[in-house]
Amino acid sequence: MTKKLNIGLIGYGFMGRTHSNAYHKVKHFFDIPYDPVLQVVCGLVEEEAKAFAEKWEYKSYVTDWHKVVEDENIDVVEICVPNNLHAEIAIAAARAGKTICCEKPLALNVPQAEEMVKAVEEAGVPNLVSFNYRRVPAVTLAKQLIDEGRLGKIFHYRANFLQDWTISANVPQGGMATWRLDIKAAGSGVTGDLLAHCIDTAMWQNGPITDVCAMTETFIKERMHTETGKVEPVGIDDACTFFCHFDNGSLGNFESTRYARGHKALYTFEINGEKASIAWDLHDLHRLSYFDHSDDSIVRGWRSIHVTDSDMPYMDKWWVPGLQIGYEHAFVHQVADFLQNLAEGKPTSPDFREALATQYVCDAVLTSAKNKKWETVKKP
Ligand SMILES: NC(=O)c1ccc[n+]([C@@H]2O[C@H](COP(=O)([O-])OP(=O)(O)OC[C@H]3O[C@@H](n4cnc5c(N)ncnc54)[C@H](O)[C@@H]3O)[C@@H](O)[C@H]2O)c1
Repeated sequence: MTKKLNIGLIGYGFMGRTHSNAYHKVKHFFDIPYDPVLQVVCGLVEEEAKAFAEKWEYKSYVTDWHKVVEDENIDVVEICVPNNLHAEIAIAAARAGKTICCEKPLALNVPQAEEMVKAVEEAGVPNLVSFNYRRVPAVTLAKQLIDEGRLGKIFHYRANFLQDWTISANVPQGGMATWRLDIKAAGSGVTGDLLAHCIDTAMWQNGPITDVCAMTETFIKERMHTETGKVEPVGIDDACTFFCHFDNGSLGNFESTRYARGHKALYTFEINGEKASIAWDLHDLHRLSYFDHSDDSIVRGWRSIHVTDSDMPYMDKWWVPGLQIGYEHAFVHQVADFLQNLAEGKPTSPDFREALATQYVCDAVLTSAKNKKWETVKKP
């Protein structure tokens, strides 16, 4: 009989739903070595936690996260709360011997992230950070094509993550709906929230980033704080653009903003190599654009690969060729890989230490913007 694995979820918001959905779906589509049981959900408002438990079939609910971490019955702690709570919960969970899946960014800042790495490594507990975009099949396929050498030497890596939801000065900061605008809850603005994804994917595909030169801007300097009811200075970066060098000699160019009118979640990357180029767009996430210079010149051009064939990453587990999957499936793939590796005693990438490398880049980006100078990235 498959061993039961008891899951405790902390945070029932956006990510709480994606993680819960992944646990529901994974056993139907993947041959996983465990039977995940949704034991307990924790969130701030009791009525909401109760309703979430009923809807997503958790056996119980609590409003104090310590109860999840201290529950001997719980095997895996899923951390889906605002960034300022990641470190405290993850460190307590590690000390309690739990397997941990923590949402990104790993922490508010580098010192917290280093403490978290120390805690999981000392406790020897399996750990994962939810940089889910790596597990979108087209993004995984892009990595495969690079690893196979199809692009040859890489010259350029370019990524954008563009949104437009904070343009109005009436959007408040702080509180449950807009904690992302409050520096104390978020740690940073678009750098930790959006660019962290781009940096994680970029380093996974193209290797370490060595140094950065950044600029940030906070377009609206003061906003009403939901918790105090007062107009307070805004501490986060609304927009961030940075250049960087990769260890392999290629140049990077990254941009993120919440002020790009018309864009909701336009995450794109393009990689230019000696032999070929690749481009991807989250709004069309099941497609990969590919240009191969070795094609005959009369048919050479950008092709759009529909990533649905069964020999493409993860796609043998879903429908039939030609039928695409979506955003939520990356989280199902994440859980499937995590549980498979857990059974085999193997780490799952990106673990806390790998996410620390992304935190170092984010930190260097913010320091560079502040000092108006190139900044060397610390090595993990
Ligand atoms: N991987 C991704 O693509 C992705 C996408 C969105 C968010 N995130 C990350 O996920 C985390 C959560 O973001 P979200 O969008 O789900 O936020 P959210 O605001 O939708 O949900 C936050 C949840 O945290 C709970 N919470 C807050 N304080 C708490 C406390 N003290 N104790 C227990 N529960 C508490 C709230 O009740 C709420 O359920 C953040 O770290 C964010 O950066 C990752």
